[in-house]
Amino acid sequence: MCGIIGYTGPLEARKLLLDGLAGLEYRGYDSAGIAYFDQDSQIRLVKTVGKVAALREMVGGGREELSHCGIGHTRWATHGGVTNANAHPHRFGSVTLIHNGIIENYHQLTEEFCLEGRLMSQTDSEVAAGVLDAMYQACGRDPLAAIRDFTKKLSGSYGFCILFEDRPGEIYAVRRVSPLVAAYTHSGSLVASDLTALIAYTRKYFVVPEDAIVRLTPYKVRVYDMDFNRVEPEYMEVNWNMDAAMKNGFPHFMLKEIHEQPEALKNTILPRVSRGIPDFTEDHIPDHLFETANRIQIIACGTAMHAGMVARALMEPLLRIPVTVSIASEFRYEEPLIDKNTLVIVISQSGETIDTLAAMSLAQSRKAPVLAIVNVKGSTIARESDYVLYTHAGPEIAVASTKAYSVQLAALYMVCCRMALVRGKYTEEQAQEFLKELLDAIPAMEAMIGKKDAIKALVTHLINQHDTFFIGRGLDYAFSLEGALKLKEISYIHAEAYAAGELKHGTIALISDRVPVIAIATQEHIFAKTVSNVREVKARGAFVILLAKESAQVEEYIADAQVRIPDIADAFTVFPIAVVLQLIAYYASVGKNLDVDQPRNLAKSVTVE
Ligand code: G6P
Repeated sequence: MCGIIGYTGPLEARKLLLDGLAGLEYRGYDSAGIAYFDQDSQIRLVKTVGKVAALREMVGGGREELSHCGIGHTRWATHGGVTNANAHPHRFGSVTLIHNGIIENYHQLTEEFCLEGRLMSQTDSEVAAGVLDAMYQACGRDPLAAIRDFTKKLSGSYGFCILFEDRPGEIYAVRRVSPLVAAYTHSGSLVASDLTALIAYTRKYFVVPEDAIVRLTPYKVRVYDMDFNRVEPEYMEVNWNMDAAMKNGFPHFMLKEIHEQPEALKNTILPRVSRGIPDFTEDHIPDHLFETANRIQIIACGTAMHAGMVARALMEPLLRIPVTVSIASEFRYEEPLIDKNTLVIVISQSGETIDTLAAMSLAQSRKAPVLAIVNVKGSTIARESDYVLYTHAGPEIAVASTKAYSVQLAALYMVCCRMALVRGKYTEEQAQEFLKELLDAIPAMEAMIGKKDAIKALVTHLINQHDTFFIGRGLDYAFSLEGALKLKEISYIHAEAYAAGELKHGTIALISDRVPVIAIATQEHIFAKTVSNVREVKARGAFVILLAKESAQVEEYIADAQVRIPDIADAFTVFPIAVVLQLIAYYASVGKNLDVDQPRNLAKSVTVE
């Protein structure tokens, strides 16, 4: 989950590394550092606790010099606290490296290589530097042989960028599980933990293969297998441009990404429509995958898991087969009841989340076919799943997920529709009607974006409170899970999502005039039931904000404030509701003067357990 960049070429490396790190900062932002060869081919190291801006100031304050080769890192602490010593890069002997991932056997390695007392930090990464240095000396300073022997010693996950003191101008990279992409461009050679750092220089890149070593020089990028044979990397093309990774006049990425949702939905849905029906021919997803399944198992983490909860509430009654949603970090240590007749759907924006990846492998080991819904092209989950349905949200930079959630939902809705059709639950006309209603959700989202000022005004009732509840029933309950998560993530206001009918079994004891309640009531068949629960919390003094459809009839006094969404079919209200919930969280964070895009303790993609 740390951000990594390496560059060698004609440009000023330090500036390029700092700019690249600023773009990668959403991956982790506890501390940052760079290492580079100076004009005398000596490796210099600058690192600090804090954000890239702090590092930039330190680098800027140094003596004027040029550099053409270096590596940079922005950290999300795993081993060892947030200190200058624990910040990357780490230098040990001839080796300077940066690392993303976790070396699980660092303790044994410390003993085996007698590193105790010789380390400056508490990190597993510095232990790795010590091991690699020992290998480097042992094999006569041959970088490829040293890296090969080094990786044999490691267990865990890693993406390394390495400088050897006697190899100025060269960068070596190797990875297992943790992502790395690389490219040779007119401006030199680059390697990074993700594409946002490369996009300013090239549209063509490759995913660094696992168990391969990459050597970057100013003139070429070479990939070798562990027997040192050349391997031709598989180049891919980025399908979004630099603008997509910029704020473009918005004060925060999150607000920009909320605004991008209607477009992202169109990009995800429209290329997959044929005769008004979802069609996955171009995605190479065959209908027999949907015909034979006798149950569905959805696996994901965080917001993606919440998209799965919505899909479950939609799919099970429609398809009449059991649909289970599991948190990936739980699923991977369970004894799941799945087999070749279970359709496993994994959902991941980044396609890198380690728990989701491990859960997917477990499902595959039980012979269950896996369909992955992924946003990042070429990511590990996309490559290792049996089938992949890409969402087309473009890069999501804000740590709190918004547009990725709605496109995941759109993809899941389309899968549900196709399944209903091929399993005879829908006629073609019904499938067409479903798709039309899905498309109707797009203007409904736009309408809610248009109401952002009214939503902002409501948030004043939340920002001085410590606790909130989000309540709803059925699909509305599934939406409230995501609403509560968003608010917690970026405003640090405690928020609990509760099935409205369950409140009175204990939790209502927590309701008071200092606990605002956001009640979601968009499902007609249970609307009156939810309204009864709203009355109950209102009677206990809660300030209630009701989210309902335009046409829903309710006495004015039921709620203290209301947000009405357009009258679209019940199954699709998640789309406009998601916008409202995202805007509530966004303005709460802004109102509290917090760092909206990079909330404390979080990171965008979680590549450690
Ligand atoms: C992190 C992010 C969440 C995200 C979750 C799953 O916790 O902060 O926003 O929902 O990971 O990520 P994925 O990339 O697998 O969707």
